[in-house]
Amino acid sequence: MDAVTVPTTTLTGGVEMPRLGLGTWTMSDADAASAVPQAARLGYRMIDTAALYRNETGVGEGIRRSDVPREEFFVISKLRGRDHGYDAALKAFDGTLARLGLDYLDLYLIHWPMPRRGLYVETWRAFDRLRADGRVRAIGVSNFTPAHIDRITAEVGTPPAVNQIQLNPRIGQRASRAYAEDHGIAVQSWQPLNIDGGLLDEPVVRDLAVRHGRTPAQIVLRWHLELGLVPLPKSLKPERLASNIDVFGFRLAPEEVEALSGLDGTAEPDDPETTEID
Ligand SMILES: NC(=O)c1ccc[n+]([C@@H]2O[C@H](COP(=O)([O-])OP(=O)(O)OC[C@H]3O[C@@H](n4cnc5c(N)ncnc54)[C@H](OP(=O)(O)O)[C@@H]3O)[C@@H](O)[C@H]2O)c1
Repeated sequence: MDAVTVPTTTLTGGVEMPRLGLGTWTMSDADAASAVPQAARLGYRMIDTAALYRNETGVGEGIRRSDVPREEFFVISKLRGRDHGYDAALKAFDGTLARLGLDYLDLYLIHWPMPRRGLYVETWRAFDRLRADGRVRAIGVSNFTPAHIDRITAEVGTPPAVNQIQLNPRIGQRASRAYAEDHGIAVQSWQPLNIDGGLLDEPVVRDLAVRHGRTPAQIVLRWHLELGLVPLPKSLKPERLASNIDVFGFRLAPEEVEALSGLDGTAEPDDPETTEID
């Protein structure tokens, strides 16, 4: 397969971000070091890692092993729970860059707000400093509700460029999507394929796959793209890596998008108010 050219979207602040990226949750360092160059050959440029995934070293190794120059990649990492707070976040960022072996990140996200700890505003202040210092091109959040975003924007003065949330046809996140659209925030979808929830076996997904001569996963990824969302599918299987990025050569009709959106509410999302991560 020829490499796919993934279109980009412009974030508030002017940074160009690919419209689809590679997830790496559950990849080991060794997995990531071999998956990233494979993915890069297929056209993937955006790679989503996190300190919590313990594979930043492998992602960095994979970037260096690939034939693609670093500046053509869009590298995302995330701050783990234990590193909330102003000084802790600045220090954690240094650790992330050191493990990746990079001298800047394209996008840094607060992984979860953990409001019970009460530190996400101070953490966001540190992120704003990292952005102002040019150590990261764009800053954002993950699993933040509109109320959390209102608060950091009001108290720090800088809105996030991105909110990365659990999002697929079963978990439509309509309120967060509408808020993001009103505020110029790009939305990335994690768990885009809802594999464990059996989304790819839903009759509506299967019927559309037959109608378009595409795989069920391609139909679901196209649903994200039609809605302006940025999916981050993870795979270690070469054929899936290839088919998951081959989604820019067909369209779903508005009524097909609607039919898939009809699954909204058939799975329960994780709760950002109570979820705690290490
Ligand atoms: N911000 C957050 O809190 C957060 C939370 C979770 C995840 N994430 C990010 O979002 C990414 C995606 O989420 P995710 O990994 O949970 O979910 P996902 O990408 O929806 O699903 C991944 C699973 O789907 C399988 N798969 C991939 N392509 C497939 C295809 N075409 N057909 C059938 N099965 C397929 C993969 O297995 P194989 O590898 O065997 O193909 C893997 O088991 C993560 O990797 C991570 O980077 C962020």
